[in-house]
Parts: sequence; structure tokens; C-alpha cells
Amino acid sequence: MLQSKIRILIIAILFSSTIYKISAQVIHIKTEKTSLVYGVYNQKLKQVHFGKFLSATTGIDDLSTKFDEIYPSFGNGSSNEIALIVNHDDGTMTTDLIYDSHNQKSENNIQTTTIKLKDKKKPFFVELHFKAYHNENVIEQWETIHHKEKKPVRLEQFASAALGFKAESYYLTHFYGSWAQEMQLAEEKLTNGIKLIETKRGVRSTEYENPSFVLALNQKASDFNGEVIMGALAWSGNFRLSFQIEDKEYCQLTAGINPFASDYKLLPKEKFTTPRMIYTYSSAGKNQGSINLHRWARKYNLQDGDEVRPIVLNSWEGAYFKFNAAKLKSMMDGAAEMGVEMFVLDDGWFGNKYPRNSDKAGLGDWQVNKKKLPKGISDLIDHAESKGLKFGIWVEPEMVNPKSELAENHPEWIIQRKNNRTQLLERSQLLLDLSNPKVQDFVFEVVDDVLTDNPRIAYVKWDANRHIQNFGSTYLDKDKQSHLWIDYTKGLESVLARLNIKYPDVIFQACASGGGRVDYGALKYTHEYWASDDTDPLERLFIQWGSNHIYPAIATGAHITKSPNHQTSRTTPLKFRCDMAFAGRLGLELSPDILSDKDVDYVKQVLKTYKANREIIQFGDLYRLYSPYDSDGYAAISYVTPEKDKAIVMAYSHEFHRRDERALIRFQGLLDDAVYKVTELNRKAKRSKVKEVGKEISGALLMNRGLLMDMKKPYESVVLKLEQVR
Ligand code: GLA
Repeated sequence: MLQSKIRILIIAILFSSTIYKISAQVIHIKTEKTSLVYGVYNQKLKQVHFGKFLSATTGIDDLSTKFDEIYPSFGNGSSNEIALIVNHDDGTMTTDLIYDSHNQKSENNIQTTTIKLKDKKKPFFVELHFKAYHNENVIEQWETIHHKEKKPVRLEQFASAALGFKAESYYLTHFYGSWAQEMQLAEEKLTNGIKLIETKRGVRSTEYENPSFVLALNQKASDFNGEVIMGALAWSGNFRLSFQIEDKEYCQLTAGINPFASDYKLLPKEKFTTPRMIYTYSSAGKNQGSINLHRWARKYNLQDGDEVRPIVLNSWEGAYFKFNAAKLKSMMDGAAEMGVEMFVLDDGWFGNKYPRNSDKAGLGDWQVNKKKLPKGISDLIDHAESKGLKFGIWVEPEMVNPKSELAENHPEWIIQRKNNRTQLLERSQLLLDLSNPKVQDFVFEVVDDVLTDNPRIAYVKWDANRHIQNFGSTYLDKDKQSHLWIDYTKGLESVLARLNIKYPDVIFQACASGGGRVDYGALKYTHEYWASDDTDPLERLFIQWGSNHIYPAIATGAHITKSPNHQTSRTTPLKFRCDMAFAGRLGLELSPDILSDKDVDYVKQVLKTYKANREIIQFGDLYRLYSPYDSDGYAAISYVTPEKDKAIVMAYSHEFHRRDERALIRFQGLLDDAVYKVTELNRKAKRSKVKEVGKEISGALLMNRGLLMDMKKPYESVVLKLEQVR
């Protein structure tokens, strides 16, 4: 009886499945304008769509499009880049991940999705995590990996995300550079094969390449039209973003920690977490992609992204290592007079047995140098506060000079090439082993002690001036040496997280020989980054242009410096230097006494104007109006309030132009029907370079007809403010 019932049931199931196809499990990750859709086919999780928002997914099973396995693991015949390679406990290298379950919930603008995958044969598990930010149209993805095999496994590759795209052609924009020339923009058409954006330097990892990209589909990237995907890996260590064109129309992005010399022993029940990959899609060009990333970063990634940043004067280019208390106090006096809000004491304030009078000695000995500053830091803070300034300080706690008490006392804390090999120096310094919890505690305590001894310190400039290069840890077991790259970065993150918790009101700047730590990993724990040691405004035009594709103005340290510039010796007008710093988190990097009275008055005016308008720049939406990479020798950007009632427009000339030539700048992001009053900020000359200053002009005209700006020589610039009057 029972048997015949089962038989009937089986026949019924078979019958129904031939008539009604059992539809696949569909997982729809969505924001307001974007959909990322996965389907489960034969137990495999495959990407069906990433791009414009889909209001319905009916018919998904009948699509003939080639589906791509979303997190391809090694051993299943895939010829694509592999996201995961595992050496299992019995020596098996095959991992065949199948769908297990998933869950989704939406709360407060964020849709959270977890998809559980497991190996077909072994107790090995991968969880894919997604956070989809509705209003910002940004998706954040990362993985956790764990297992219950009897013995440890070794992870050999562990991407954070693998995404597939289909288009006729692909244009990749990436940001390369070197010390003092970071974030240079390069765009290239991808051809068959693999293009890698990567670093293997471990620390100061964004100096040569940034872990971010713009991928334009079907045409070169444009700011205001075309489909683009933009993304960034939130990781301050080795990264690798690979773009593989498999056949003409399929491109796979695989992004994550660089697996280079990094295989990772994972014990049963231990959890390996990959860094977050952040990505956004725009069907209206890369400018919207930048707006998405900036809005997301201010709200969800930066420390205190909703708080106005103070104007700092940093002592480096004004004093270098050569100062005493009197010199610093006189710099503070000048700073206060101009309207600066925070004085930051850079390198050179510490070390006694080995005084820090150059980069050759003292790094690691974080006691105040008694000769230079006999009354200590608190005496400086008293002076700063008497002038209405807050006080900040420079540290480089991950590093050590061989000529230091720290190196003498703790040689075992130094990352080193073993067997008595010569250690490779960079800037005369070595690196502390942050994979070691004791070293993590030391690094934490360096900053903790400075902040406990001087509770009024309001800002910490955290520097890092070398790569890993020497490779070897006296702390890690011999079968875990290859963990160093990853554990170093995780150690750094954990120290920074502890400091954030203990000092929620202190502003942290990520600096690494300038822009060597410009990534959303470091920016999770910091407020801003130092964009470059190159403060020449012409060089900054390109550096800031590149960084503003991915990182917002509020986080971009941009300082007014002396002329000729200390890096390039280029002479530029003060106004041009001020107008360039105006495009970021403005500050100063000079000794005020080098300025004439007239210049002091001008800077005073600029700082007052910046204060009155900084919310527009620091919280506004960026619009790139004119690229310095175009051959015409002009550049322009603007920041527009979310309400579109105010905007600051900055235009620059960086070449010579014909006598009758003027720059035509068309604005963006305004309201067509609104009328805006045009005023000029930071003007030095009597006559304005823009005839319409003082006039009221419609948004439609400003955007479609534009304004002519009379800039003929290199280093001329114009800053305009638009205010809606009706
Ligand atoms: C690095 C930083 C500079 C300055 C010096 C101090 O180069 O990028 O801004 O702090 O170190 O040594």
C-alpha cells in the first residue's frame, strides 16, 4: 500500500517537472538603481546580471546567456581566473562549491545578503556576504571561509569578489604612480588576456597602483554618459585586481588580497575573512559612479564622514626636522592670525639617545626630545590653545631606525631576512612585525601613551615610510611565514580599530610617504589621507583629479605651500596654490613667516571663505567639468549641494593659450529652472575673468551654454560660487 503511494508520488513529481519546469533559486541583490542577480543551476551559484535595476526577473531560466560561476574554485575545469584555491588536508586541490542556503534582510537603507556555499565532498564552507546600500547604489562584498576537516588546510587564493560583464568592448581606467606622483590616470582598451592591477609591496601599498578602477563598457569612459562599473578594494596590503577577457564579449573581474607568497594555513574552525570589495554601477558615466562612492564613503566608511574638517597647518614643509619650541610657537602665531584651526607638529619631535634630527635615527623612541622641546608637548599645546588652535602630532609607530633604542632592545620585533642576511633599508628604516600581538600592543601603546600624556591632542598624522621587502617574522611559526603579508595588515587594522574606540574624538590621517595608503581599508579607521608629498599645485591638479574618481574631497588632504615648490622647484602664484587646496580638505604646509603681509591678508581671506563654504565642498557632490588630461590646458570641477541650491566651481589653466582664447566651462548638477547668482571667490585681480560675475543666470544656461573664463596663462584660476536666488 505504502509502496504504491510512493510510486504514485514519484510519477507525479516526474510528470509535473516535465510540464512545469522547476525554476532556479534566484537571489536578487539590489539598490535603488542596481541589480546583482544570481541563480542556482545544478546546485551551482551563477551570476546572471549585474547592472541596471531589474524590476522583475521572470524568465530568467530561459535566458540563453552564458552564466558564470560566481566564485570559481580550483579543480572544476574553469579556464577563467580562479577565486579560490585550497590545498585540503589530504592533499586534494579540488574544491567544488555548491549552493547550500542563503538569507536576506533589509534594514535602514542596507540590504544584507549571505549566501552559504559548501564543498561537495568535504566539510569546507564559504560564505559570500553582501551589503547593498540602497540610496548610494554601492555594493560591498566579502567572504568568510572556514572548514571542519581533520587537519589544517592551506588557502592559496582567496578573492573578495568575482564579477562577470558582457559588452562589445571594455575600457579600463586605473590609477598608477610613484612617490610624489600618485593617482595618475591611465585608460586602456582591454584585449584578450589578463590585465593585472596589483602590488606586492605589503605596506605603503598604494604608492604605485591604487586598488581601484573604472571599467567602461562599449566605449571609453565618459563622465556623463555610458555604462561604467567602478570599484575599490578596502585593503592596505598586497592587492590584485585582474581583468580577464576570455572571448571578445566576456570580461571577468577577480579582486582581492594578492595571493603572492601568501598561502594561508587555516585550522579547523578558524575563520578567514577577506577584505571588502566595494563596487558601483552607473548607466550615466563615471561622474555618477564617483558621486555614489563619495556619498557611501562619507556615510559608511570614513571616520566621522558627516563632520566638517578643520583647517590644519602641518609643520613639515615649514620646519622639517629643524625646530625648537620658539620656532613652532611662532609658526602657531602666524597660523592663528590667518585663521588656521589646528597646528600639527610633524616629524622630528622625539628621540634622545638617538635624536630624530634627520630620517637616519630615532624612529621608534617616542619620548619627547628634551633638547628641542625641554618643556614637552604640553607647553606647545598650551601655546596653541592660547591662540585658539587645536594641536595634532605626527607618528610613524610601525617603523624603526636601526639607530634607535627600540632596535637595540627589541631586534626580534623587526621584520627581517633570516640567516644573518643583510637587511634592506628604505629611508634608513625597518619595519616592526605587526603580525606579532606584542608588537601590536607596542604600536597601540606608542599612540596611546602620547594621547594619554597629552589628552588635548586632537589629530594624529599616522605615517608609514617603507615597504616590506625584508621578509621574515621571528614570531610566526615556520609553516606560517607566508602569513606575514596578510597578518601584518590585519594587525594594523586591529591597532587602528582599538585607537578609534579609545579615542573617538581624535582625527586620524593616513599618510605613507604621501599617498601610499589611499584605500578604503585604511580609510575605515581614519578621517583622511595625505594625497602626496608633492604639493606643487600643477602636480596636485592631476593627483587630485585621479583620487577624486574614487575618494571624496573631505578625505583629501590638500595644503597651500610655499613657492618655488619644495619637490619640483616650480614657481606658481599664491592664488593658484590656494585654489588647488580649495578642492580638498584645505590646509597649509609652510612657515607663515615666509609670507609677505599682503600674502598673509590674502590667505586670511581664503581661509575665511573656505570656512564659509567648506560644507559645500566637503559634503557636496563632485562634478568633473573639464579634464586636465584633455589637450586644451584647462581643468574644472565643482561641488554641488545635495539640494542643488549652491555650488562652488573651480577652474584652472595649466598651459599657455592664444591671446583670444577663453575656456568655456559648462556646469553640471544644477536645477534647470532655478536661477543662480554668480559670485567670485578668492579673487586677487581687480577685474574678474568671468564677465557674468554678479549676474543671475538660469541653471539651464549655466549647464548648456556655460560661461567663458578668461584664463590665458598657466597657473591662472577662477573660483565661482553659485547660489540659487529663485
Ligand atoms: C613622509 C610624509 C611627509 C612627512 C615626512 C616626515 O614623507 O609623507 O608628509 O611627514 O614623512 O618625515
